[in-house]
Amino acid sequence: MGAEDRRGLARDLAATLRTRNVYLGSERVASQLRFALTGPGEAPAAGASASREELWQSLKDEALQCRKCRLCETRRTVVFGEGSPTADLMFIGEAPGRDEDEQGRPFVGRAGKLLTQMIEAMGLRRSDVFIANVLKCRPPDNRDPAPDEVESCRPYLERQIELIDPKVVCALGRHAVRSLVDVSQGITKIRGRKLVLPGGRTLLPTYHPAYLLRNPAAKREVWEDLKTILGILGLPVPERRSR
Ligand code: URA
Repeated sequence: MGAEDRRGLARDLAATLRTRNVYLGSERVASQLRFALTGPGEAPAAGASASREELWQSLKDEALQCRKCRLCETRRTVVFGEGSPTADLMFIGEAPGRDEDEQGRPFVGRAGKLLTQMIEAMGLRRSDVFIANVLKCRPPDNRDPAPDEVESCRPYLERQIELIDPKVVCALGRHAVRSLVDVSQGITKIRGRKLVLPGGRTLLPTYHPAYLLRNPAAKREVWEDLKTILGILGLPVPERRSR
């Protein structure tokens, strides 16, 4: 089987998984794609397994066509996330709002501008980190995510984290924290605490930028949390300009 046929097989396989609404653990997806790319009976040559880029693209293709929950009926776009797919730092928000739904990009409205300022205050650019949400589709009228919507969308976020493999995941607000770890305390109690995600990476919860727009005094605490993240990443803390 030639390389083109194998690529076709890989595409068909991804499409089949999508139409069956199947989420397989990344190991199984990887081994099935590996089979599709190397062919039966062929010993997988060194480096022949599906690359991270291929797995990433297939995850993105799957998410962009997702119809696993009711939000697919009302969304305009699927907001997969953006930034570096090899980032050391990931920010995770709640769900796209109206601006994000229109543009297909995360955190582009007022809260997004503040998140961009937070990232830049750390001496980084948006393109240095990866920005995603718990839900990839906008809940109507920006209501809270429903538990079944979070469950349907969780595999996408988990696989994004697995493939990006960041050192630190910064959860913005309670919905982001609760979608990743089983905690009962509110965000005020757990913000700034270093929690541990499966795989051993650090989860650091902080306030959501939309909360900061309503409570600017809390920016002080968020800056402390961002400094904690810089410390974990071994990056210098830029001098803070007054804002
Ligand atoms: N925009 C997003 O993309 N996510 C949020 O949680 C809020 C605004």
